Amino acid sequence: MVGKTILVTSGKGGVGCSTVAARLAVAFARRGTSTLLVDLAWGNPAQDFLCGLAERTVYDANDVMCSRVDPRRASLPVIAVQNLTLLPGATAFDGVPGDAETIRLFETLRGAFDQDVMILDVPKESVAVLSEFADVTLAVSDFSAASLRATANLKFSKRAHVRVVLNRCPADRDTAKLYPTVREALDLACLPLAAVLFDEPRLTTDDLADAERFKSRPLVDVPCKNLSIRLTGGHAPLLRGLIRGRKRRKTLVRMARRRLENA
Ligand SMILES: Nc1ncnc2c1ncn2[C@@H]1O[C@H](COP(=O)(O)OP(=O)(O)OP(=O)(O)O)[C@@H](O)[C@H]1O
Ligand SMILES: [Mg+2]
Repeated sequence: MVGKTILVTSGKGGVGCSTVAARLAVAFARRGTSTLLVDLAWGNPAQDFLCGLAERTVYDANDVMCSRVDPRRASLPVIAVQNLTLLPGATAFDGVPGDAETIRLFETLRGAFDQDVMILDVPKESVAVLSEFADVTLAVSDFSAASLRATANLKFSKRAHVRVVLNRCPADRDTAKLYPTVREALDLACLPLAAVLFDEPRLTTDDLADAERFKSRPLVDVPCKNLSIRLTGGHAPLLRGLIRGRKRRKTLVRMARRRLENA
């Protein structure tokens, strides 16, 4: 049986939900935690590309849900990262499955695997019901007001443990002026903070299509590693080791501290 279960979702599309799920999964795996990444983004899977497994995918989450294949057989080890296994998402699917089917799939996966951590990239339609069963739910938002408001409108189970991941924090002063500060963003999202992730030019759309990228530059970085530590009850700073390059890092950390003031 799987140990800890973490849902990653977002109120609005394109804000980095799948990328955050992948980066977090890599961070756990790199710390030696056996990790299962599950892509439940029906009809819009991304994890097979992000993990460099697009060409190897045979079965997907839909095959598991329809009991066409054993979940373990449908999953693939991520070649570039030890301790990481992926259950790819379904490309062909008629709409998001109903609550009962979603819960059954979640329980099947939890029982079938023995990884320490299971991270699920989940559409917002499934999160209300699944957040009841998961240990932690992470709602990803960028710094746009639309995305932050959509985050505030997400529905969760009353017993859910929900945190927001503020993604794509502007990394230069001029851009930052156009967006809410971290404190304002938290007020708009109406959720406590899990992590602040900076806008990283290397995570671009073009790169996403290049599966080989994962092998040469795995999606791992200090903020995600620190988030993985905090999610398992440890202490790790919100801001440290953000960017390579001393001068750039110093400026960014100073700027981020100011933006994080009282957050
Ligand atoms: N911190 C970041 N810095 C820069 N670009 C990012 C960052 N996070 C995500 N991106 C980019 O944003 C785009 C959307 O990311 P992603 O596919 O993870 O979003 P999503 O919320 O899962 O979208 P969808 O609604 O399609 O599922 C991708 O091109 C990704 O590379
Ligand atoms: Mg996605």
